[in-house]
Amino acid sequence: MVETSPPPLLRVDRLARHFPVRGFLNRRVGTLRALDDVSFTMTRGEVLGIVGETGSGKSTLGKTLMGIHEPTLGEVWLDGTRIASSGQKRAASIRTRLQYVYQDPGASLDPRWTLRRSLHEPLIIHTRWPRDRREAKVREIVAAVDLPPSHLDLYPHEISGGQLRRAGLARILVLHPQLIILDEPTAGLDVSVQAAVLTLLQDLRRDFTLTYMVISHDLAVVRSVSDRVAVMYLGRIVEIGPTADVFAAPRHPYTRALLATAPRIGGPRVTDSFPLLGGPPDPLQLPWGCRFRTRCRLAMPECAGLAVQLDYEGERGVACPRWRHGDMPRPVAPPGTGSSAPAIMPRPAEEPRR
Ligand SMILES: Nc1ncnc2c1ncn2[C@@H]1O[C@H](COP(=O)(O)OP(=O)(O)OP(=O)(O)O)[C@@H](O)[C@H]1O
Ligand SMILES: [Mg+2]
Repeated sequence: MVETSPPPLLRVDRLARHFPVRGFLNRRVGTLRALDDVSFTMTRGEVLGIVGETGSGKSTLGKTLMGIHEPTLGEVWLDGTRIASSGQKRAASIRTRLQYVYQDPGASLDPRWTLRRSLHEPLIIHTRWPRDRREAKVREIVAAVDLPPSHLDLYPHEISGGQLRRAGLARILVLHPQLIILDEPTAGLDVSVQAAVLTLLQDLRRDFTLTYMVISHDLAVVRSVSDRVAVMYLGRIVEIGPTADVFAAPRHPYTRALLATAPRIGGPRVTDSFPLLGGPPDPLQLPWGCRFRTRCRLAMPECAGLAVQLDYEGERGVACPRWRHGDMPRPVAPPGTGSSAPAIMPRPAEEPRR
């Protein structure tokens, strides 16, 4: 008997999103390749973190999955069904299954409506449920996000900022989405409120078997909530793998540089990074091959060759010719940190390659 494993919840296959750039008299002057050749899968119930500096395409990835942008190339599959490709219109039945949560979900509430009306609204649009069934669902979700039921009669200006965020999340949860894309979920919050939001997200994930993609600048947030992390640089994933492994021993020179800039968060800090060369390239004139090579101290001629793909060893993927050849020099630690001496970082031989 042939065993067939269930399809991943999400499969992203060579996804790209390019934006035309127009100049004087609306003439097209170039193409901004915000997302290019991005492939990965997500399983049910997992949390995938997406990190990378500003402009690396994190939000473009989330919005292209969500259907806010149409893919320029590539495909997105949800639960074994293709939901996005170039020219494909998104089926109405898919719209509620993925939800994108903007930085401030509370802002999605209409200031003229009570919370009850705002929370009933998505159910009125997407279901044919009678009023009492809707009300029961709304009350269940309001309890799950820790808001008192009496708040259903209040208007957005009558509740606190933290409660507004909870209400905004409730509005998304009433539809029971399968995948929730959280774009900068803690940006602009006090540290104590941040912690409360993260705890709530973890609780909701458990109670409703949710799958999250968490996009964040904040490496500490991604480290604390994600099972796996993908590191983006100028529209591409340069490294992906289990969060603990990537943070403990980053492999891509860019990941090392990114982690070295982060404040110490729990584990040992990556101090022995290779300093970056110069600033990011002009996004309209991206380098061929590895897009990071112009800032990479380890670049070699091969890096300018064909697009550098992620090579997998087990669950860890790295897009770096140096790593592929197993001759990634161990970075020199800054004076006084007493860590590594220059050497070659051995690639673990025992892990199977895909
Ligand atoms: N609708 C659009 N039209 C044209 N260019 C866009 C559009 N959306 C994004 N871009 C460009 O695509 C690139 C990636 O943007 P994106 O918003 O995805 O980055 P990001 O990683 O989310 O950055 P941040 O961390 O600042 O939110 C940027 O150069 C941006 O200017
Ligand atoms: Mg963004």
